[in-house]
Amino acid sequence: MKDLENIKKAAEYIKSKVDVMPTRAIILGSGLGELAEDVKNPVYLNYADIPAFPTSTAPGHKGRLVIGELEGENVLLMQGRFHFYEGYDMDVVVFPVRTMKMLGITDLIVTNAAGGVNTTFAPGDLMLISDHLSMFCTNPLIGPNYKDFGPRFNDMSDPYSKESRKKVHEIAKKSGLTLKEGIYAYMTGPSYETPGEIKALRTLGADAVGMSTVPETTVAVHAGIRVLGISCITNMAAGILDQPLDGDEVIETGQMVKEKFSKLIIDILKS
Ligand code: 6GU
Repeated sequence: MKDLENIKKAAEYIKSKVDVMPTRAIILGSGLGELAEDVKNPVYLNYADIPAFPTSTAPGHKGRLVIGELEGENVLLMQGRFHFYEGYDMDVVVFPVRTMKMLGITDLIVTNAAGGVNTTFAPGDLMLISDHLSMFCTNPLIGPNYKDFGPRFNDMSDPYSKESRKKVHEIAKKSGLTLKEGIYAYMTGPSYETPGEIKALRTLGADAVGMSTVPETTVAVHAGIRVLGISCITNMAAGILDQPLDGDEVIETGQMVKEKFSKLIIDILKS
């Protein structure tokens, strides 16, 4: 359990740098990192300065923790996350979530940029994740079980709390925001999927597809952290439109939805 020592080291360092440790955290996905610029009284902790913390290489990801207040609500933001496609082992991908558990985080909002698989979706839509498909990828809990975090065989029957989702829909309705809901399919990337793969995913029930979120959610659920997932549909997945996929769309659509995304997150924190 060498990792456990490292998780403790990272958590001790983070604790030593902040006065009030939030109980709520948000992982900001590609193109959605700008929310971190709105944090008041921020403490910035670069991943490179946190003992044992990995460093991020993905485009549109900054690589730091931002701890402070969003409209008066205490929160810890991860500006930049770790993806399996970058070549990290799964325990590295989920290291920050285990560190969060060690810090006392009880609620986590996981966000991402995703491709639309449901043909009624459009770029710029926000989708509340109701459930996920992870069977094409490895599970981050493979290996010795960290029994202080959770059980060997953890229950995944309600990973994105149904009760919380109901509240989020009420919040969205109140602010006149259209919020889709659907199933997120996790693929490793870094290639985008083929049209055949997207057709298969749709047949399996997927509404959106992406390269993150599921490992973090799995480990958070294992550790008893309550999870909400929000996908920003940045583009339609392969084969839906008669055009190639372009990575720049992810950043551009992130810019487009910035305001409604921020509003939704802040309304959720306030409630
Ligand atoms: Cl189409 N696929 C995957 N795997 N990730 C994405 C995406 C598509 N669009 C944005 N992120």
